[in-house]
This record gives sequence, C-alpha cells and structure tokens, in this order.
Amino acid sequence: MRAAAFTSLGGPDGVEAIDVPEPTVGDGQALLRVRGASVNRHDLLYLQGDFRLRENHLPFVSGVDVAGEVLDVDESVERVAPGDRVVLSPMMTCGTCQYCRDGPENYCERYHLFHGGFAERVVVDADRLVVLTDDVDLVAASTLPVAYMTAWHMLRRADVDAGDTVLIPGATGGVGVAATQLVAAMGARSICTSTSSSKLDALGVHGGDHRIVVEDAEMLPDAVAEFGPVDAVLNHLGGPFTDAGLATLRRGGRMVICGRTADRYSTFDTQDLFLEHKQVLGSTMGTQADLERVVRFVEAGQFDPPVHETYDLEEAHQAFADMENRDVVGKLVVTP
Ligand SMILES: NC(=O)c1ccc[n+]([C@@H]2O[C@H](COP(=O)([O-])OP(=O)(O)OC[C@H]3O[C@@H](n4cnc5c(N)ncnc54)[C@H](OP(=O)(O)O)[C@@H]3O)[C@@H](O)[C@H]2O)c1
Ligand SMILES: [Zn+2]
Repeated sequence: MRAAAFTSLGGPDGVEAIDVPEPTVGDGQALLRVRGASVNRHDLLYLQGDFRLRENHLPFVSGVDVAGEVLDVDESVERVAPGDRVVLSPMMTCGTCQYCRDGPENYCERYHLFHGGFAERVVVDADRLVVLTDDVDLVAASTLPVAYMTAWHMLRRADVDAGDTVLIPGATGGVGVAATQLVAAMGARSICTSTSSSKLDALGVHGGDHRIVVEDAEMLPDAVAEFGPVDAVLNHLGGPFTDAGLATLRRGGRMVICGRTADRYSTFDTQDLFLEHKQVLGSTMGTQADLERVVRFVEAGQFDPPVHETYDLEEAHQAFADMENRDVVGKLVVTP
C-alpha cells in the first residue's frame, strides 16, 4: 500500500509517497481505511529534525490524527466492528503507572503518540477508537484529536467558565482555531491574534469575538489592554509570548502553555507573577474523554472544524510547505 513518508529530515522536500508493507491486525487491534489524517506542527517539527526523530528512524510515516472506516478487527475486539466510522485517540499509555491509575491519563510516565496516519490503511488499538455518527465528516473528524482535544484540555486546566475572557495568541492555526471555537461553544469571550489581517478575517467566520493584528510579542500587552485584563491565556507559541501574555492577565489569572512554536525558552517577570497571584501551567494533549467531548460538540452542530486544504499522498509534501509558509487558517488534511 502507499504512504507519505519522511525519507530525509529538514523540510517538505523530504516527504515522499512510497510503498510500505500492508498492515494486519494483532491482539486488540483494528484495521482502518484512512479517510483523513490531519497535519499538526508536531509532524512538521519531526520533519525538521527538531523533535525526537533522527535519520536512523527513516523512512518514517508520521500522522497522529486519523479518522476512517473500520475494515477488520482482531477476534478479541468488541468496541468496534467492520463498517464503523471512527476517529482515533492517538494517546498510547501504559495503563499501569501511578499516573495511569490516578489520572488524568495524559500524565502517563510512558506516554507517547501514535504515528502512521499518512497511509492508506493503519492498524490501531481498538480501545482508542471513538465511534462517530453518520453526519460527522471523516475529514473534519481527523482534525479533532491533537488540536481540539489539546485546546479543550487547556481550557479545563485554565478553569475557564462561561463569561470569562480568553486570550489566544496565534489563533489561526490548529490549536488556535480549535481554542477559538471551543471558547465560543462554552459561552466565553475570545481575543484572537495573528500577524495577518486577512487570516483574522477568515477566522471571523468561525468565531473570535475580538480579532487583532499583533505583529510581535512586544505589541501584545498594549493591543489587548483595551479589552481589559483577561482571565486566561492559551499559549501555544511560547518564547516572548509568555512574558507578554502574562502582562495581559488579571490578578489570579491563569496561563496554560502547550507549545513552543515561537521559541522553547521564555523569560518572564517573576515579581509580576507572585505579586498578582498569577499561575503558569503546562499541558499536553488531553484524555480520551476530552476527545469524546469535542466529538459530541461537533455531532451536536455547535461548530464545524475548518479544513483549509486537503492533499492526496503524492501531494503531502505541499501540506508541510503550506504550514511552514503560515498561509493557513484551520487545519490541513492528508486524504489517502
Ligand atoms: N503539548 C501538546 O500536547 C500539543 C498539542 C498540540 C499542539 N502543540 C504545540 O502547539 C503549537 C501549535 O500547534 P498547531 O498544530 O496549532 O500549529 P499551527 O497550526 O502551525 O499554528 C499556526 C499558528 O501559529 C502562529 N505562528 C507560526 N509560527 C509563528 C512564529 N514563529 N511566531 C509566532 N507565531 C507563529 C501562526 O500565526 P500567524 O497567524 O501570525 O501566521 C498561527 O496562528 C505547536 O508548537 C505544537 O507543537 C502541543
Ligand atoms: Zn502510564
């Protein structure tokens, strides 16, 4: 079968469609026909050689977010059956460490992610599948696990409530648009930033109560000040956006960080933090229950996840180029 694999590290030229062995089900597994595998910055960081993946792992088929139809299941599987339409919760947990036993499961000390979705078929752990109703589009469903589950878990970590104001720096990408739509769905107010006014216009179709152009982190506190101190900042950019975001928080406000697109390291004013009782929290992914919750939002018609562009396996390299060029609002999806 065909798959889009990383055959060299560095950039989009290293993504090629190749032949790979046909997968078959093992104990507790299901075989899926992949209809959508969305692209995350995580895949781009892997491709750039910036996170964990090394030359000796190549060729490597990435793709964490998978939705499709069940083709076959191992005889031990009861959760799903051939013909079911499903989305994968890509979290692999050990089930036995103190964090798995105590929860939440995304704290697992042997936590890692499923990879392999940029392929025609995949085998996955059947327990990690969420069954979809017929009216949820499979391409749209493939946008939900990493971006929406992570954003939802961050909103929970930040204890956001209806009526709160949430700042989302860099609101036009996967996590950013997901956060914008989820904030609206829960009755809170969002302040969304981007370097691009046209991308903010496009975001407006999906939500974003206040959409402001912020060209660099230094501009952020003044640009946000007119809307008053915010209750929470969802920070997936890191770098200078941490200090700048902290300056926008009300006393006792909370910042949740899940990423480092701008930079891995942040310097911030600890005095402002302690005198104003602010909190900075880290967060990674979410729980399978979080994914089920965001699936239910979509099933209930509370929002549609925007798919900016789809690519077949031969064109998958272009998805990575488009993400690098920042010319995207919402998600990019490989449709094998
Ligand atoms: N820990 C976790 O579980 C987890 C889960 C999901 C994502 N993440 C992390 O969260 C981040 C976002 O992921 P994503 O998939 O949503 O990425 P994405 O779709 O590529 O995010 C695009 C957004 O990032 C902004 N951006 C891109 N490069 C930037 C830069 N150099 N400086 C400032 N802003 C920049 C863009 O701003 P413009 O609109 O101005 O172009 C856009 O709003 C990544 O760092 C990812 O690794 C972590
Ligand atoms: Zn564990």
